[in-house]
Amino acid sequence: MPVAGEDTGGTGPVVWQTGSVPAADPTTAAPTSVDRIVVHGGDPLSGRVRVGGAKNSALKLMAATLLAPGVHELVRVPRITDVELMAEVLRSMGARVRWRDPDASLDDDRVLEIDMPATITPVAPYELVERFRASIVVLGPLLARCGEARVALPGGDDFGPRPIDMHLRGLAALGAEFDTSHGYVEGRAPNLVGSRVLLEFPSVGATENIVMAAVRAKGTTTIDNAAREPEIADLCGMLNKMGARIEGAGSSTIVIEGVDELGPVRHRVVPDRIEAATYLAAVGMAGGEIVVADARLDHMDLLCQKLGEMGMRISADPDGLWAMANRRLRAVDCSTLPYPGIATDYKPLIVTLLSTAEGVGIVTENLFAGRFRYVDELRRMGADIRTEAHHAVVRGVERLSGAPVRAHDIRAGAALVVAGLGAEGETVVADAHHVDRGYEDLVGKLAALGARVERA
Ligand code: EPU
Repeated sequence: MPVAGEDTGGTGPVVWQTGSVPAADPTTAAPTSVDRIVVHGGDPLSGRVRVGGAKNSALKLMAATLLAPGVHELVRVPRITDVELMAEVLRSMGARVRWRDPDASLDDDRVLEIDMPATITPVAPYELVERFRASIVVLGPLLARCGEARVALPGGDDFGPRPIDMHLRGLAALGAEFDTSHGYVEGRAPNLVGSRVLLEFPSVGATENIVMAAVRAKGTTTIDNAAREPEIADLCGMLNKMGARIEGAGSSTIVIEGVDELGPVRHRVVPDRIEAATYLAAVGMAGGEIVVADARLDHMDLLCQKLGEMGMRISADPDGLWAMANRRLRAVDCSTLPYPGIATDYKPLIVTLLSTAEGVGIVTENLFAGRFRYVDELRRMGADIRTEAHHAVVRGVERLSGAPVRAHDIRAGAALVVAGLGAEGETVVADAHHVDRGYEDLVGKLAALGARVERA
């Protein structure tokens, strides 16, 4: 049963350049003076904020373009560092990646254009994989397209080891063979053949890699105990538009009939439920009333139910989700689980909300055991949290007090900004480049809701 590590990757900020996805340049990796977010707590939020396309879908859709030569158009891709790094991975293989209209905002249908050539180099180098561990999802499409792949092994990270055993076992069931040497996994699969794959855990990445290999395998592949996240359904939706034959995406059993050829498509990225959850938590912490445009209640059911139990009011709105918090929240218990359970990515936000809720809440992490590092930072803000193994016992205090804190990963960074919104005085979140890996303009969007927050 997995309890291990993920994707905090990245060694430093990569400055976004409007108009193109810039080369990943290690010289830009040193912390800069804008690497801090300063928050002044105490102001309720109001207004409307729009979420972008989901990071954890966009990255996989970008990887899927490896499967078919031609010009692909991905709509509503967020402008975040991880997208920039995935673009760099694709470029290193020969693709041309650019923003169709560099000045387009999120409200426009901004297009990321990926021109995939007829011949690609099936190698993902260590310099990129090390900074961005989600790049392992190129393995399946490269094997399917080229019959071989050489991908650097992702190392461990801030919340533990990062195994890929399920990815490799699943691909091996389809006929791929692997060697690992010199820090690389080298795969060969001249003839992928459909098979039954039973995952021992519904791993998101393993499901995606296996699906993207199976679409070009001979015959039928059945993945049992597949991950059910909305981002998996989004990936399969795009693959079907490309000509794949996939059924059951979004359920525990995915059936894929291999096809000989796939073509380029235009596809709109599913809205980011984790970004949406961040704005819900922000209003829960600061109080007020907001609309989170494009958020989908059907993708966030259990979370919204939990927030409702805590005393927030949330309902579907013609635009997305309406949310209100007008009093101190109540503590609840919760456990992270694969979708449709409460996502591990929501957890830092929930712990933050519990830190000022009335009563005691117990939060249990079932996916990434090491994902509690931000708790020390919340304690610096006066939170009363005890952790033991994969549990956190959170005893709500009346109010947090602003303090200098450090972001250790994307979600922890966002949660600390949210904590600052409900804290007394000034909170300075250092290492804000982690936040940029997963959020497009978190600061600007919160400021538009009335929060006093800025890039220092
Ligand atoms: N696992 C294994 N072996 C494997 C693969 C996974 O033991 O071969 C374990 C992991 O160590 C972990 C569990 O299985 O304990 C679940 O991992 P999963 O493979 O589902 O996660 P992932 O694909 O690596 C994605 C998201 C994460 C999110 C998790 C869980 C991306 C790029 N990342 O990671 O998002 O937390 O699913 O939902 O899609 C984030 O966005 O900040 C983030 C960390």
